Amino acid sequence: MSRLLVIGASGTVGSELARQLQSAGHEVRRATSRPPGSPDQVQLDLSSRQGLAQALAGTDAAFVLAPPGHVRQDLLINPVVDEARNQGLKKLVLMSAMGADADDNAPLRQAELHLERSGLAWNVIRPNWFMQNFHTFWLHGILSQGKIMLPTGQAKGSFIDARDIAAVAAQLLTRHDVDNRAFDLTGSEALDHDEVAAVLSRVTGRTITYQDIPPQALLDGLLQAGLPADYAGFLVTILGYFKAGHAERTTDAVQTLTGRAPRSLLQYAQDHRDAWLE
Ligand SMILES: NC(=O)c1ccc[n+]([C@@H]2O[C@H](COP(=O)([O-])OP(=O)(O)OC[C@H]3O[C@@H](n4cnc5c(N)ncnc54)[C@H](OP(=O)(O)O)[C@@H]3O)[C@@H](O)[C@H]2O)c1
Repeated sequence: MSRLLVIGASGTVGSELARQLQSAGHEVRRATSRPPGSPDQVQLDLSSRQGLAQALAGTDAAFVLAPPGHVRQDLLINPVVDEARNQGLKKLVLMSAMGADADDNAPLRQAELHLERSGLAWNVIRPNWFMQNFHTFWLHGILSQGKIMLPTGQAKGSFIDARDIAAVAAQLLTRHDVDNRAFDLTGSEALDHDEVAAVLSRVTGRTITYQDIPPQALLDGLLQAGLPADYAGFLVTILGYFKAGHAERTTDAVQTLTGRAPRSLLQYAQDHRDAWLE
C-alpha cells in the first residue's frame, strides 16, 4: 500500500486514476483547488502554490498535470517538482501531451525537462487526444447541430481513452522498473473525424457528421465560449499539428505497461452513449 497524491483528481484522467488506485488498495489523497468536501481531499491551488507543501507531505508518490486554461504549464508544474524533491518523494508522474517534446522551448517541455533533471525518480506520459473530448469539449456542437466541427481536415488521430491513461499512470506510480522514462500513449488505431462521426452515429442512432472548419472559426467559437485568448490560440495551434498528421502515430505503451490493449473508439462510444442522446 502506498500513499499517493493525485493532482487534478476531479478531472477526466485524475478521477479515474484515483478510483483505480483506491480499488487497488492504495491510500489516495485527492487534490482540488476548491474547498475540500471529503476527508480524502486536500486543497491545492497550483496557480498560487497554496497548499502545495501540505498536499505532498507524507506521500510516497504523486501524479501531476497542468490544468487546462494555462499556456505557461512550467510555472504550475515546476514548483510541484521542487517541493516533491524537497520532501523526498519516491516518484513523480507528469501527464504531458503527445508532441510536447517537439520543441525544447515550449513551456510543457520545459516542465518535462525540469522533472527529468530534478534527481527525483520520474515518468512522463504523453497521451494523444482524448476520446473523452467528444463528450466534453466537442459535445455542444454534436448536441446542437449533430456535428463535430474542427479544423483538422482529413487527418487521422490515434485517440486514447482517458481510462487507459489512468491505468498507465496507476502502474507508473506504484512500480519502479521503468523509472525515468517517457511514454507516448495512444489508442490502437488512427481514425479521421469522419470515421469518428460514423462510430458515434452507429452507437447513438443519430446522424452525426464531421465538418472541417477554418482555424479562425474555431478560435472565434472558443473565445465566445469564454476561453482565455492565449489558451484558445494554443488549442488552435495544436489542432494544426493534428491536421499536419502529427497525431496519427500509434504506440504499444498501453499494452506493454498495463498488459491490456487500449479501448477502441467503439467501446468508448458505447460506454458514453447517453451523453449524445440528451
Ligand atoms: N484533452 C485532451 O485531448 C488532452 C490530450 C493530451 C494531453 N492533455 C492534457 O491533459 C491535461 C488535462 O487533463 P484532464 O482532462 O484529465 O483534466 P480536467 O478534466 O480538465 O481537470 C482538470 C483538473 O485540474 C484541477 N484544477 C483546476 N485548476 C486548478 C488549480 N489552479 N490548482 C490545482 N488543480 C486545479 C481541477 O480540479 P478542481 O476543479 O477540483 O480544482 C480538475 O480536477 C492537460 O494538461 C492537457 O494538456 C489533454
